[in-house]
Amino acid sequence: MCGIVGYVGKREAVPILLEGLARLEYRGYDSAGVAVLNGAGVETRKLAGRVAALRELVDREPLHGRCGIAHTRWATHGSPNMTNAHPHADCTGTIALVHNGIIENADVLRARLERAGHHFATETDTETLTHLIEESPGKTLEERVAAALRHVEGTYGLAVVSADDRGKVVAARRGSSVLLGVADGEYFVASDASAVLAHTRSVVHLADGDIAVLTPDGYRVLDGDAHEQDRAVDAVEWELDDLALGNFTKGDCTSLRRVVIVACGTSWHAGLVGRHILEELAGLPVEVEYASEFRYRRLLPLAGTLTIAISQSGETADTLEALRAARAAGARVMGLVNVVGSTIAREADAGVYLHAGPEIGVASTKAFTSQIAALALLGLYLGRARGLAVETGRELVKSLVALPDLIARTLHLGAEVRELAERYAGARNALYLGRGVSFPVALEGALKLKEISYIHAEGYPAAEMKHGPIALIDAEMPVVFVAPRDGVYQKVRTTMEEVRARGGRIIVVTTEDVNGELDRVADHVLRVPLTASLLSPLLTMIPLQLLAYHIAVRRGCDVDRPRNLAKSVTVE
Ligand code: F6R
Repeated sequence: MCGIVGYVGKREAVPILLEGLARLEYRGYDSAGVAVLNGAGVETRKLAGRVAALRELVDREPLHGRCGIAHTRWATHGSPNMTNAHPHADCTGTIALVHNGIIENADVLRARLERAGHHFATETDTETLTHLIEESPGKTLEERVAAALRHVEGTYGLAVVSADDRGKVVAARRGSSVLLGVADGEYFVASDASAVLAHTRSVVHLADGDIAVLTPDGYRVLDGDAHEQDRAVDAVEWELDDLALGNFTKGDCTSLRRVVIVACGTSWHAGLVGRHILEELAGLPVEVEYASEFRYRRLLPLAGTLTIAISQSGETADTLEALRAARAAGARVMGLVNVVGSTIAREADAGVYLHAGPEIGVASTKAFTSQIAALALLGLYLGRARGLAVETGRELVKSLVALPDLIARTLHLGAEVRELAERYAGARNALYLGRGVSFPVALEGALKLKEISYIHAEGYPAAEMKHGPIALIDAEMPVVFVAPRDGVYQKVRTTMEEVRARGGRIIVVTTEDVNGELDRVADHVLRVPLTASLLSPLLTMIPLQLLAYHIAVRRGCDVDRPRNLAKSVTVE
């Protein structure tokens, strides 16, 4: 969600800025823009659309300069159009600024600035920043930025240039990730390391409240009162190898009393699977909370609580704030994160990197799989420290080791699923049902379908169907059951009968040991290989991801970049 890149150095800025923006595309955006400082002052190009289109625009109307900023915008305040795209200017066009986050008191600031004679050109909250800087006192750009930010409530990661203070990029951070890339005679600003890795692996993560000043001669990090801050230069290679549980020792594991998992979206679904895994293997009570709800509740401190924040991006605003709230309430906090060096990874007391590689498609898929695999390993680790029998642990490890082959076999269902997709691509609604460890799979299957094919879909615990959703069942309603043969299989089969009796269309994802017994009740049966029940989501999820994918392709949807979605949700 929104991406920032900035550059100052000896090379032409625009190719570097555009390449950085392309690296940040995966975060999701709807418009893009770039501004450079040169002899003419500040020059800007921006549009609603893709970075490729911005590149074409810059080819037609070139920009030159060795200092500049660029942005991909995911609309929050104001439509996704060219005017609202960043960079934004002040009244005189002297300042250009890009921003991630939300200025919460934007309405109040705007009214005050308009009364003082400022002219606003956009609907965005960001534009208040340019006018605040314009009227703020100070000899240097950084002094004016610091003065302006004193009036701001909300979150920001920003980069700004000014024709009044040339050859300089000023960046600032509060609640929205910003890092600096450090190279020989050139310096970068970015919202994550992927945007600078082509040029340097030395990065400086800004802390909340930091203001950074970058010139071709070096960089400085200041606080709001212009005091120099000492920030470490991290080598990205070193962090990539960091798989450790930090200083989380076996002693900590035995004193644990409960686990609270906080996450959003697909990561929350993985957390629901994790609850089954951790309760079963580690014998710990587990609560799974939407991070956005958790952070605003009164948190009752309970000694021995471990809070696990699960996040692919490591930048999801609600998950980050939930982690901070848990820590403030006295909990130990741990991150289960994919993106190395991300804010959640850095703020957690301990953590496990998923190392799933960059997840480029906006809809989360391989992160879900890796999160569950990591939760299984964590369950084994905590379990063994808390009395899980070594044989039980070994059996699960064998099942984990066998998974890559089983996943490869499950992918052979592709052709069968494509045929199914042909048949159901015109559906307007779908219901996904499962129980136990398969209930989160049903939720995730429904989420994938709605995200990428725009078909309305709901996931439910199978037994809850008769408490309401059963009213929806008719011949137009595909009902997808996630029903591997496990302890609740027969119960779920009863729910299938109830759907059948009302004429619903039934698709079942089950295991290979279920033979002809579903033929009478189900319209379609997809069989995945057998594995340990706790790990079955790693296999049953695959046909559901494929189903969503093929239906979306059949409907002509952009599978990688579904409308309205952002890869990294850095606002509340
Ligand atoms: C769904 C999806 C989202 C994310 C959610 C949390 O396909 O991608 O629901 O799972 O925004 O994101 P992370 O895991 O980055 O915290």
